[in-house]
Amino acid sequence: MLYISRKEHFNAAHKLYNEQWTKEKNLEVFGPCANGNWHGHNFDLIVTVKGIPDPETGFVVDLKKLSTMIRAEVIDKLDHKNINLDVDFMIGKMASCENIIVEIWKIVEKHLPAITSRGKLHCIRLYETPRNYVEYFGE
Ligand code: NI
Repeated sequence: MLYISRKEHFNAAHKLYNEQWTKEKNLEVFGPCANGNWHGHNFDLIVTVKGIPDPETGFVVDLKKLSTMIRAEVIDKLDHKNINLDVDFMIGKMASCENIIVEIWKIVEKHLPAITSRGKLHCIRLYETPRNYVEYFGE
C-alpha cells in the first residue's frame, strides 16, 4: 500500500462566533478569533490517497488530476473568501478547522472515483497556521 499526497493552498477569512452566546462568552471562549470584523489565515491543505499502483502507469492517482480536482471542487470555493459568509458548504456551521475539514473530506471523497479507480481517500490535513493543523481520516 502506498500513500501519495498533494498539497494545495488557499487564504480565507473567518471568525469563530456562536450566535447563541453573548458577545462576552464568545470573547471568553474564542478570544481574538471571535473578532467581529473577521481575521484571516493562509491555509495549507494536504490530501493523501492510498492504493496499489496501476501496473501500466505506476500511479495510484495522477497527481495532476488530483490537483485539478481539489482546486476546482474545494480551493476555488474557499480561496479569498469569507468562510462564514461565502462558502456554500459551510453555511450554518461554525467555521472551525474541524468543521471545514469534514466538509472537504465529503467533497474530495465524492469526486475521487472520477480520477482514479485504484486510489482511496486516506487522510486530509488542514494547516490553519504553520503550527496548528487538524487531520481527518473519515471516521
Ligand atoms: Ni482563525
